[in-house]
Amino acid sequence: MSLQPCRPAPALAFVNEAPEHAQDIEALLTRAFGPGRFAKVSERVREFAEFAPELSFCAFEEGRLLGVVRMWRVAAGGQPIVFLGPLAVDETDRKNGLGALLVERACAAAQAAGEAAVLLVGDLPFFQRVGFSVAPDVVLPGPVDPKRVLVRKFADVAVTGAVAPRA
Ligand SMILES: CC(C)(COP(=O)(O)OP(=O)(O)OC[C@H]1O[C@@H](n2cnc3c(N)ncnc32)[C@H](O)[C@@H]1OP(=O)(O)O)[C@@H](O)C(=O)NCCC(=O)NCCS
Repeated sequence: MSLQPCRPAPALAFVNEAPEHAQDIEALLTRAFGPGRFAKVSERVREFAEFAPELSFCAFEEGRLLGVVRMWRVAAGGQPIVFLGPLAVDETDRKNGLGALLVERACAAAQAAGEAAVLLVGDLPFFQRVGFSVAPDVVLPGPVDPKRVLVRKFADVAVTGAVAPRA
């Protein structure tokens, strides 16, 4: 039996989103969400939210973009919070924990930056694994299934009311 020489596994690198990543990110998001992506209520939030590149992450392996998570500064009922999304992992790289890792990175960065909570629209069975629960009484700028409006808090604050730009 001949043994293959060992080589180290390619390293996964997490970097903050920068303008030069835009093209790769757009391609990944289009593959992950399809053309219906811009009809989502989350897009209505992102139209007025302030993008936070220092809280947003790309996962690269040998120069290839494997996953992305974006974060946005907004307020809910006047309380400053961060809105997470989109989150996507390339189809060939799913179910290896990268989606959860990206959410953890983004949440850790938000907490370290002094943010009180992270809000998103998504599936509870996935996001409850990374600390999210249903956020009752949050009003988004469009129709949404209330069971998909999820929050993770870092401080004892109320996250209720209308999601709007930060003052
Ligand atoms: C959601 C997504 C980011 C997860 O990425 P990932 O790297 O596979 O995530 P993880 O490896 O951390 O977790 C995978 C687990 O979550 C589960 N999961 C993934 N999406 C799910 C969903 N929408 N609802 C429930 N469970 C889900 C998987 O079945 C898998 O379960 P298992 O561990 O029991 O096998 C990825 O599936 C994706 O890009 N999907 C398309 C875009 C999308 O729906 N984004 C989220 C909306 S904000």
